[in-house]
Amino acid sequence: MKMQALPSEKGTFNLTNYEDTNQSFNWKDVEGTFSWAKTGLVNMAYEAIDRHVDNGKADQIALYYSDAKRDESYTFKQLKEQSNKAANVLKSVGVEKGDRVFIFMPRSPELYFAFLGTLKVGAIVGPLFEAFMEGAVRDRLEDSEAKVLVTTPALLERVPVADLPHLETVFIVDDEFTEQGSYLDFNKRLNEASPEFDIEWVDREDGLILHYTSGSTGKPKGVLHVHNAMIQHYQTAKWVLDLKEDDIYWCTADPGWVTGTSYGIFGPWLAGATNVIRGGRFSPHDWYETLERYQVTVWYSAPTAFRMLMSAGDQVVKKYNLSSLRHILSVGEPLNPEVIKWGKNVFNLRIHDTWWMTETGAQMICNYPSMEIRPGSMGKPIPGVEAAIIDDQGNVLPPNRMGNLALKVGWPSMMRAVWNNKPKYDSYFRLEGWYVSGDSAYMDEDGYFWFQGRIDDVIMSAGERVGPFEVESKLVEHPAVAEAGVIGKPDPVRGEIIKAFIALRDGYEVTAELEEEIRLFVKKGLAAHAAPREIEFRAKLPKTRSGKIMRRVLKAWELDLPTGDLSTMED
Ligand code: WT7
Repeated sequence: MKMQALPSEKGTFNLTNYEDTNQSFNWKDVEGTFSWAKTGLVNMAYEAIDRHVDNGKADQIALYYSDAKRDESYTFKQLKEQSNKAANVLKSVGVEKGDRVFIFMPRSPELYFAFLGTLKVGAIVGPLFEAFMEGAVRDRLEDSEAKVLVTTPALLERVPVADLPHLETVFIVDDEFTEQGSYLDFNKRLNEASPEFDIEWVDREDGLILHYTSGSTGKPKGVLHVHNAMIQHYQTAKWVLDLKEDDIYWCTADPGWVTGTSYGIFGPWLAGATNVIRGGRFSPHDWYETLERYQVTVWYSAPTAFRMLMSAGDQVVKKYNLSSLRHILSVGEPLNPEVIKWGKNVFNLRIHDTWWMTETGAQMICNYPSMEIRPGSMGKPIPGVEAAIIDDQGNVLPPNRMGNLALKVGWPSMMRAVWNNKPKYDSYFRLEGWYVSGDSAYMDEDGYFWFQGRIDDVIMSAGERVGPFEVESKLVEHPAVAEAGVIGKPDPVRGEIIKAFIALRDGYEVTAELEEEIRLFVKKGLAAHAAPREIEFRAKLPKTRSGKIMRRVLKAWELDLPTGDLSTMED
């Protein structure tokens, strides 16, 4: 596909000439760390892994991996070699610079080899969360025109290979697999590949990663980031994660989400820290054990996880020696003051909230180690980032007024395109000079930002962003469903849960079986985290005259709030 014009080409703003601010810090100061300062070219995988081998850290552990069955560790040198092998394997099937290589598998060392190998070839990596079902996988592979997929036999069942004409090769990661046609054995080929590889040096504005994320309307959108993002990944890993080279760091997010790549791969390794990856599902026992066993010093997780640990009770945490921990961070949803209080009690540490989005690529508004925390606030913009609360015309509002949380364009890790969707990309920049986040917030007199909610209808459930439109579309595919409207309902543990309002087709009756069937239908067709926990059947749903479901009214019903202006509602 032809890359869409970058906004810098439109002349509205230049993404690598960071504007002079009145701060003494400028992102340009960080550039000298990376190879393009000398050669004009760069590669994220080199900077994150190989650079440390060249700088005397070959034998430091880069990756501790464990799950119920495996327990492994890799030094920077071993990771360099494994990713070189993966790069050779990918190159052998014709992967070239700019191609999309998707990885759809549970966490495992091979996932990280394939991920880094993709970057070494100069291709764009597309990580997919393992819970995605067929419809979600299809949308993403179709839109990105992925050429190669790395997956497992179990997950392959959810890949509609026959409908994906651009998909040329599928690598299967499994010890018992026998190659057949374009289905190749990843591990066998990895073992046979050379550990030497000539990295494809790319321009800092070349594509790095595609993360699909949900909006309130339409299909999921592919947010494209470029190698230049490393400036911010690196600097925030130092300032916000506070990583030093001898830190043992654990980010609990899956690489299918941006936290699991920006801060599960790029940030920690650019900073030269030791990275812990734990596979398998969440369990309080397992998590505390992971912290204790690896003597984790810096830990990045999410409010939902903290709330689940909190509800497991303090007797559980007391069984572990967690004295190695020195810094804890949170992202994804509002961090409740109660959770900060709990963290202070059980770890004797503050939990530091950080605010950012898939689209921003890296942390933007944060509580960093040296600052005073106001529980409930997301913190302040990091140096080099300018945030403001603006109205719908782009006027900056004074302190304590609620409005659109916006960022001055031009930070290093900003997305560079929405794949195949220029209008969507441009819509973020509709107010001259600003990136409009879609969140509402206010800023207090001292410059702390306070999150208020989403302006669109996007749902944040257990830290995962769910687009109501996607769920509604899946629901109406069910033969019994005539209409569906989906909202986020406040929930003490998950932040929000997904609640669906459904009108049935004539001839169907509300039964517990049907309700369960509909729930499973979404679970199997989309993803478990997108399935409605609550379903309410109604004879009719509130709609505009043009036939759009009015989620605002559904939400008002749910929360017992005034429904507001109903002038556009059909009779
Ligand atoms: C949306 C972005 C960036 C990684 C995780 C989510 C919400 C994010 C916070 C926070 C309150 C937050 C916002 C944002 N969000 N961090 N600290 N406090 N809300 O990435 O899936 O792109 O979602 O998550 O609503 O817009 P994402």
